Amino acid sequence: MSGALPDAAFWRGRRVFLTGHTGFKGGWLTLWLRSLGAEVCGYSLAPSTEPSLFATARVGEACRSIIGDIRDLPALERAFMDFQPDVVLHLAAQPLVRRSYQDPLETFSTNIMGSAHVLDLVRRTPTVRGALIVTTDKCYENLEQATPYRETDRLGGRDPYSSSKACAELVTRSYWWSYFSAAGAPAAASARAGNVVGGGDWSTDRLVPDLIQAFAEGRPAILRNPDAVRPWQHVLEPCCGYLLAVERICRTPAKTPPAWNFGPDEEGNVAVGEIAAGLAAAWGGDARYEVRRDPGAVHEATLLTLDHTLAQADLGWRPRWPLATTLAKTAEWYRAHQAGGDMQAVCEQQLSDYVSA
Ligand SMILES: NC(=O)c1ccc[n+]([C@@H]2O[C@H](COP(=O)([O-])OP(=O)(O)OC[C@H]3O[C@@H](n4cnc5c(N)ncnc54)[C@H](O)[C@@H]3O)[C@@H](O)[C@H]2O)c1
Repeated sequence: MSGALPDAAFWRGRRVFLTGHTGFKGGWLTLWLRSLGAEVCGYSLAPSTEPSLFATARVGEACRSIIGDIRDLPALERAFMDFQPDVVLHLAAQPLVRRSYQDPLETFSTNIMGSAHVLDLVRRTPTVRGALIVTTDKCYENLEQATPYRETDRLGGRDPYSSSKACAELVTRSYWWSYFSAAGAPAAASARAGNVVGGGDWSTDRLVPDLIQAFAEGRPAILRNPDAVRPWQHVLEPCCGYLLAVERICRTPAKTPPAWNFGPDEEGNVAVGEIAAGLAAAWGGDARYEVRRDPGAVHEATLLTLDHTLAQADLGWRPRWPLATTLAKTAEWYRAHQAGGDMQAVCEQQLSDYVSA
């Protein structure tokens, strides 16, 4: 049975303020929202990679695009007041574990105070009915346990990135208790997704961008941590969940749970080495990789899986693409990019394939 899809009747003409539109997930979400007839105002820093999904898929054509910092409260406030959004999707973040070790203050200020700024503007902008704060599966205290994490599990986080996202969860909850639980107030909740793959990610120190770059250059990719198990999913899976969550938040604010997990079915919980093998096969040619363990590497969890029972029961969401399709679509996207394709059209085609899956 397929999972639920966003309701175009809800989104048509809806004014959506989306932070992180110049990034990987935010770019896909912006294109999806445009196809649903929403009016999007994106607010983010300029793309941090070259190439970027924002430039290659011409995401700026699908929204009103503002380049700004979520730590700059006056600038963020001007953007909110000018646009007068109905709903807010907050994705902007410093999202990389290794970078968070190199620059913890940037990570904490962006992911904690930046989220607090967004929540405070949700509180102070009368047009806003609902907000979704995107955190991560890494917000849970990682016990290296075989049992998938549930929404009620204890928050934690050893590295600065994971810790900052657990803090963003607590800040969201505090705003809910303090301002959003009253009748007539806007509602807010958080979303915790697993490791996302798909076309258009060029971030450093992420598995798929590293693999694709090596495959495209005809050299072996290097795997540092082949045994680490993560919940892998296509970028469109959590994006679908985020849209369903916002619909739910706006329709029944008083009954909204504080958070949902969005992870793959059991078959998507695999080791890094399996993703590398699957993507190499999907890419074809002489795509290959080598394992080179780094004993001096910074700490990263080795086992992390997510329980998405609540999202399934509460939102009707469930993964639509099995892992093999996810990897095939990812390879197809980067192959099209390598061949100089129209990447906005490729995104739209993959979105249409996803919706009809
Ligand atoms: N990609 C994943 O596997 C994954 C998994 C779980 C959760 N997440 C979360 O999803 C969200 C989006 O991640 P992504 O993979 O698209 O990351 P990304 O790096 O591609 O995009 C991050 C976005 O945040 C913006 N940003 C960063 N700092 C900012 C600042 N100070 N002010 C304004 N904008 C700022 C960037 O400009 C960019 O638009 C993040 O909150 C991330 O933590 C990602």
